[in-house]
Amino acid sequence: MKTTDLAGLTATTPKTDDQHGSEKPTIRVKELSERDRRRLLMHFLALDDSDRLLRFGTVLPDELVTRYVQMLDFSRDTIFGVYDDNLRLVGVGHIAFAPREALPTLSEATSKARIAEFGVSVSATARGQGIGSRLFERAAIHCRNEDVDTLYMHCLSSNQTMIHIAAKAGMEIHRDYGEADAYLKLTPANPGTMLAEAMEEQFASFDYTIKANAKAAAKLLKKLPGMKKG
Ligand SMILES: CC(C)(COP(=O)(O)OP(=O)(O)OC[C@H]1O[C@@H](n2cnc3c(N)ncnc32)[C@H](O)[C@@H]1OP(=O)(O)O)[C@@H](O)C(=O)NCCC(=O)NCCS
Repeated sequence: MKTTDLAGLTATTPKTDDQHGSEKPTIRVKELSERDRRRLLMHFLALDDSDRLLRFGTVLPDELVTRYVQMLDFSRDTIFGVYDDNLRLVGVGHIAFAPREALPTLSEATSKARIAEFGVSVSATARGQGIGSRLFERAAIHCRNEDVDTLYMHCLSSNQTMIHIAAKAGMEIHRDYGEADAYLKLTPANPGTMLAEAMEEQFASFDYTIKANAKAAAKLLKKLPGMKKG
C-alpha cells in the first residue's frame, strides 16, 4: 500500500485558474450535524438512478434513500458537506468508521483499532469544480486526526471520475469483476494536520454563517413593501 501525506492539502487555499487569471470560488468543507438531516435527504433524493448506482452500489429507491438518511449516525460516523449560496448541500462525503475486523482483507494492513470507509456524491450541477476532491482531502486529513491510517473506498470499475480522484490522491486501486477497491495508507497526525482541520472547520462555519445571514436578509427584503417577489 502507498503511504500518502495529505497534510499539505489544507482545504483553505483558493484554486486559481492560471490560464485565464480568474479565481475559482474557494470550496469550504463543513462537518455536518443532526440539523443537516433534511438537507442531506434533499441532496440524496436529487441523485438520479445512475448516480445512486455509483454512490450506493445499487439503484436505491426513494424509500431506501430516506431510510439511509434517517439511519445516519452523526456520533459514530463523520459526514462532511459543501453548501451552495442557498445553503443547499451540493456535496456530501461520508466516512463510516468500523472496527478493523469488519473488513478482514484490511485487518492485516493496520494495527489501528478502526478503519474508515469513504463514500461521496456531488450534485450533478456542481460537478467538475473540485468539490469531490476537496471532500476526499478533508476525509483523509480527518482520518489522520482520528488515528485511523487506512482509508478505504469501494466503487464500480466504470466510475472513471472517482477512480481518477482516488488515483490522484495516491490510492492503490484493485479492480475485480466490474468493481474496484481503493485503499489509502495515511501517515500519522501531527500538529499541522490538527491545525489545518481546525482552521478549515472555522472557515467553513464562518462561510455558512455569512450565507445564512445573506439568505435571511434576502428573505426579509422580499417582504418589504415595494420589493419584487421572485
Ligand atoms: C465522483 C464525483 C463525486 C466527483 O465529483 P466532482 O466534484 O465532479 O469531482 P472533482 O471536480 O473534484 O474532480 C473530478 C475529476 O475527475 C476528472 N474527470 C471527470 N470526468 C472524468 C472521466 N470520465 N474520466 C476520468 N476523469 C474524469 C476531472 O477532470 C477531475 O480531475 P482533475 O481534478 O484532475 O481535473 C461525482 O461525479 C458524483 O457524485 N458521482 C456520482 C456518485 C459517485 O460516483 N460517487 C463515488 C462513489 S463512492
